[in-house]
Parts: sequence; C-alpha cells; structure tokens
Amino acid sequence: MRRREFVLATGATIAAPGLIAASKSGVQPAMPAFPPDFLWGVAASSYQIEGAVNEDGRGKSIWDTYCHQPGNIAGNANGDIACDHYHRYREDVGLISQLGARTYRFSIAWPRIQAEGRGAANPKGLDFYSRLVDELLAKGVAPMPTLFHWDLPQALQDAGGWQNRDTCDRFADYAHIMAEHLGDRVPRWITHNETFMHHVLGHVLGVNAPGLKLDMPQSFPVAHHLLLSHGKAVQALRATAKPKAQIGIAQNLAMVRPADPARDEPAAQAMKLYYWGLHVDPLLLGRYPAELPDALTATAVRDGDLATIAQPLDFLGVNYYNTNFMRVSPPGSAQPIEEAPPPATFARTAMGWPVDPQGMTDVLLGLRDRYGTALPPIIITENGAAFTDNVVRGAVHDADRVAFLDAHIRAVRKAMDAGIDVRGYLVWSILDNFEWADGYGPRFGLVRVDYATQRRTPKDSYYWYRRLIGGQAGAGK
Ligand code: FCB
Repeated sequence: MRRREFVLATGATIAAPGLIAASKSGVQPAMPAFPPDFLWGVAASSYQIEGAVNEDGRGKSIWDTYCHQPGNIAGNANGDIACDHYHRYREDVGLISQLGARTYRFSIAWPRIQAEGRGAANPKGLDFYSRLVDELLAKGVAPMPTLFHWDLPQALQDAGGWQNRDTCDRFADYAHIMAEHLGDRVPRWITHNETFMHHVLGHVLGVNAPGLKLDMPQSFPVAHHLLLSHGKAVQALRATAKPKAQIGIAQNLAMVRPADPARDEPAAQAMKLYYWGLHVDPLLLGRYPAELPDALTATAVRDGDLATIAQPLDFLGVNYYNTNFMRVSPPGSAQPIEEAPPPATFARTAMGWPVDPQGMTDVLLGLRDRYGTALPPIIITENGAAFTDNVVRGAVHDADRVAFLDAHIRAVRKAMDAGIDVRGYLVWSILDNFEWADGYGPRFGLVRVDYATQRRTPKDSYYWYRRLIGGQAGAGK
C-alpha cells in the first residue's frame, strides 16, 4: 500500500490495527459540542463507486483505460462494477440519510455527461445525477457535487489532457452544463478534488491515470491548467447556479514534518512548496510562490491567468489523512527529497499512513498562518482511514476506525477553539470502494461492501458516527 508515496521509502510498513485503540485506554471524555449548523457528512467519488461504465452513453475515462492496462492496479482490478452505485444509489442514499448525515459529497463522472468531453450533454447522464440529487433532497441530505474527481474523458486525454490549455475551456463548458441542470437544487459545489494528487500521482510519478511520468518542468502546465480550469469553472457556476450557491475546491493538505528536525527541515519546506505553494497559493493569494523559478511558470502562465484562478471562494475543502515525514535524499538519488518512514511511535493505517490527529490541527492552524484573512471558511471534505476490518458473524467491529475518527474530530474542534472557522466535516467514505492503484484491498468505508454480492453492512463506525451526529444535533438545541 505504498503507491501513493511521493518518492521512495525504504522501510517496509505494516498495518498496525489495534494500536490506536490500544493506546487510548479507557473511556474518552464526551465529544465537545460543535455549532448546531455544523455540516456533518460523508463523501465518495464517481469512478470509485459507480460501476456501470458502459451504460447509458457514458464515454471512456482515463481510469477505464489505465485500469485495463495490466499491471497498473493491485490485482488488476478496475472500476467496471465497483459498488454498483449507479444502480443501487437509492439504497446508498438510504444509508446516508439513516446515518443522519446532513451532506453527501459525490462526484460527477464527466464522461457520463459528455462522452468525449465536449459537445452536447447526454440526457441519460444528466438524468442520473438529477435523480441522485432529488433522492438526497427528499431525504433531507444536502448534495455536494464535485465536478472532477480524476476521471477525465479519454478523448480529452487523447488531445493532450491537462497539458493542453484547451481542456480548461472544456471544463468550464461542462461546469456550465451542470449548473444549468442541477444549479437550482445544489447548495454547495466543489470544482476539483486534490489538484496536487492528480498532477503528481497521475503526471509525475505515473502511479495513477493517465500514468504519465513527466519531469517537473514538463508537468507544470498540468498543475496550472487544473487551477485555471477551476477559476473558469467558478465563473461558470457563479453565472448559472443559484445565486446563493457556495463554491469551493477540495485540496489535500497532509501535514509535512521533517524526518529529522535538525537535518531535514529543507526537505519539509520543499514538500510544502508543492502542496501549499503550487496548489493553494494561486487560489488564495493569486500568485505562485517566489521560490518557483520564473522559467518554470513561464511555460504555461499567461497574462490574466492568476486573476482567473483566484476567484473568491466560499469555502476551502481540506482533505486530511496523515503526515508526510520528509528527508533530504541520499547523494545520487533521482529526487532531492523523499518521504521517510514515520517514527515508530506513530500507529499506521492499512495504507501504511501514520496516524497524526495533531497534524490535522496543525494543518488548520498553518493555513491561517500562511493565508491570514485570505483564508475562506473551511470544510473538511475528506478524513478517514483504511483498516483491516474485523468481521464477526456479519458484524464489523472496526474499533481502529472509530478511534481514528474520534481523534480527528477532536483535532478539528481544537483548531476551531483556536479560532479557525471550520464549517463541516465529512468522512471518507460512506462505502468501501475502489481505492485507485490499490484496488479493492484497502477498505475506507463506514459501510462494508461485499463485492461478490454487493451486500452493504454498516460497520460499528457507522453506528458510532450516527450517535455522534445525533448527539450533536441534540447538543445544539
Ligand atoms: C484521497 C482521494 C479519495 C480517496 C482517499 C483515500 O486522496 O481524494 O478519492 O482515495 O484519498
């Protein structure tokens, strides 16, 4: 489960289920109260759950292509069926509403709307998301669609994908179509999911679709065009969606710490330059960091682009999972910095990711330090963990996940107590699902999915989160 690591980590990692729960002996103090209108929710994304890849006029996405090239995905898995959510969305919305979630973040598969990424919209694709939105609203759950969670139409990739500036205009057209069709009913929109991850995993490391291995200068236009397309999509949404609709973007902001504070601070700073500098500064400050060479940005940035990128946002979505411990690479390495194995004192999830709730508080405080008054309100748009679930006679006792969520929700509250304006928290994910290059191995769901039968079984964490949300509702009254 190391495919997401940025460069290399030599130390093998193993899941340590039990460690977190064991380290938290005894009964936790009551969860502090959150504001009564706090947006408790859950999240998922199109390619990871929908399946039905050849139905109702859906075109091919880069993930269809990538998964069907042998060797790219653990177990050569693919999203052809996934959780079959396309057919079972009513059951899934039922689970979401019974949880008491106030919002559900899903993503729209662009190739369902425009099979080739351009031209007239596919009525059946629109109809699916329209039915999903209506079903959510009927159950009192606010829909939070993300326009792009990595499944680019393959036809656009064939034309250069995000390396091609034209893709930005295609994305704005698609945003406009979605605003026209769902804009009357959707209170919050997200343009992109994690531009950093799509840029780096998909176009530099080549471990996600489209599987390109560009060097940093070659890949810079990808980052810039993702951001520019965000700005254009915000403009399109504002022009067409209901005036009060809130618009944001979801960025992954892992905590970054030096492996050895005495030696590796430069490596941590360099990593931050990518996470925050390259992928957040332009959004909130309207500029790329001064540390990035002009020669790099000159390859793609045109006059006016940064003003387009820095559209005022109603919220910043923060996806937080873990901390990256960074170190300076040994001499002769291909990359100047690399991710180091976390200190042994940190428990790890089944992904090998170190569990660092304090990192979540630190990220939120760090955002304020870096952006000050330019920082919009925050919604935690993803947080969660994969663990090896303990299934006993049909019940799933996932004490590790409960401990993880409990600690991270408290970490959010701590940041709020320090004055950070956090408006919501969404668990990744409502269902176990297709975890990209790791296939179906890692399970992030509050609900277990038996992929052979598509049977859904709420885990202990589902019931725990339901009680938490219910208790908070009571606390606010
Ligand atoms: C995030 C992705 C999401 C999921 C989680 C575990 O980076 O946005 O799709 O894979 O990680």
